[in-house]
Amino acid sequence: MQMKTDFLVIGSGIAGLYFAIKAAEMGTVAIITKKERAESNTNYAQGGIATVMASDDSFDSHVADTLNAGAGLCHKDAVEVIVHEGPSRIKELLALGVDFTMKNQQLDLGREGGHSKHRIVHAADLTGREVERALLAKINEHPNIRVFENHVAIDLITEHHLVKTGKEAQSQNTHCWGAYVLDAKSNTVNTFLSSVTMLSTGGAGQVYLHTTNPLIATGDGVAMAYRAGAKIGNMEFIQFHPTTLYNSGAPSFLISEAVRGFGGILRTKDGTDFMKKYDSRGSLAPRDIVARAIDSELKRSGDESVHLDLTHLQASEIRSHFPNIYGRCLQFNIDITKNWIPVVPAAHYSCGGIVTDLYGSTSILGLFACGEVSMTGVHGANRLASNSLLEALVYSTRAAEYIREKKVRTSMIPEIPEWDESGTVNADEWVLIAHDRKEIQQIMWDYVGIVRSTHRLERANRRIQLILDEVLDFYRRTVVSEELIELRNLARVAELIIRSALIRKESRGLHYTTDYPKINDIEWLKDTIISSC
Ligand code: FAD
Ligand code: SIN
Repeated sequence: MQMKTDFLVIGSGIAGLYFAIKAAEMGTVAIITKKERAESNTNYAQGGIATVMASDDSFDSHVADTLNAGAGLCHKDAVEVIVHEGPSRIKELLALGVDFTMKNQQLDLGREGGHSKHRIVHAADLTGREVERALLAKINEHPNIRVFENHVAIDLITEHHLVKTGKEAQSQNTHCWGAYVLDAKSNTVNTFLSSVTMLSTGGAGQVYLHTTNPLIATGDGVAMAYRAGAKIGNMEFIQFHPTTLYNSGAPSFLISEAVRGFGGILRTKDGTDFMKKYDSRGSLAPRDIVARAIDSELKRSGDESVHLDLTHLQASEIRSHFPNIYGRCLQFNIDITKNWIPVVPAAHYSCGGIVTDLYGSTSILGLFACGEVSMTGVHGANRLASNSLLEALVYSTRAAEYIREKKVRTSMIPEIPEWDESGTVNADEWVLIAHDRKEIQQIMWDYVGIVRSTHRLERANRRIQLILDEVLDFYRRTVVSEELIELRNLARVAELIIRSALIRKESRGLHYTTDYPKINDIEWLKDTIISSC
């Protein structure tokens, strides 16, 4: 099937949905999404959206906190954009019916690590689910928008495909005209054509063994854009969230930073408030500092977790502020009003991604990127808590406004060949690479985690290169499937993270290496940019 639409949106998290709502005022929109429409990182966001709303807060303060967390690498203009445009986006969400938590008829503002003021707009501890609900309600009723669930984007369509449909696109392309997309229910590959493609595929947490991210977060957007020749930046800056529920065997569950903002204190098992040793802000230091401190305490003590203590806080307040976290911990017989919560860090957020300008434009014409998949320059070497949903809202809006003003749309799409499966066979040999996903995750966790070294990175590099070559070879010979698409992308993104980490010969923000333990502003005050051409 070949389908033509004015706007192709890949991904149905906050970035894709918000862009779609705005783009639908200008034309038809097709949203393709891997699973059912709500499944996204957005849907699991807990803490909230950072925005200057309080009378004792200021734009300058939010900008300063963001720059401070970003350890010198934030692009100040990109930061000012999110901070200044944030309040308008929150008002729009309220108008769309998002049910944020209120106190005395005002937005209840929480606090999180690295923020010097209370500025986190939230819907209890289920902010993402509430935002996703409201955006989908709007999308579902919009006559210009069609959502394709269980559709997995395989590759972007670029100049390269005009001359030859290669399954591994490698081109000096200048324009994107849509994507080849697997309909995972019927196992057919469809061609979605559009002169504007918005990549909003979210993060890549699944590249690590322990992650807060759901299964969809396999870095597909970054891998697709890399193959198409787009610039990719700062992939070494992977954020590890300091506090996920420690419960061996079960998938990671986030204990929001808002819990520490509310007064929760991190302790070692003997009760020591150890964060005081590492930072004057204690448990509310930015998360790179907290995650490294926990890592160091665990290595020193040999313990399997540290603990988050809320027991000094009022039980009814804990239950009303954090009903989701309270309920989930109770399932594991932890009553957080009475018991300490065992916590460990897990991979959480990719600060790097597809390089964009201040309007979501990438280095490929017709290709835009928003949300976690992008690198706008906002986060630098470490993202400040709750700036991610904000960034997605602000930049998806700016992309739509830019497209409207510059009349980016054009109907001049050249003839694009259908997906070509010739030379491929069914995956009889899947067993050969069936374990590669797990192996990638283990390698990345062991060697490319919170504390790195050149020796470990090189070791990881050798192993990941081997897996990547194996997977690419298998991919060329085999009919595509969802598992294979994800594996190919995971291997590529792992390689990009390691390559970027090896390039940066200093420690800054989320990238800490024992071989270069100091920040080096003279040589390394710059983004790490890589591309396939
Ligand atoms: P996502 O919401 O991840 O959406 C990506 C979409 O792309 C999904 O629909 C996915 O199915 C689809 N997709 C991916 N690949 C393909 C493909 N190949 N083909 C088709 N579709 C595809 N940030 C904050 O600011 N505040 C918070 O409180 C907060 N809490 C968080 C809590 C958790 C547990 C997690 C995991 C993250 C949290 N974050 C928070 C980060 C934030 O939620 C994400 O960065 C943000 O939601 C990303 O939005 P997005 O639209 O870019 O991507
Ligand atoms: C959290 O609630 O701790 C997550 C916030 C974020 O990732 O910004």
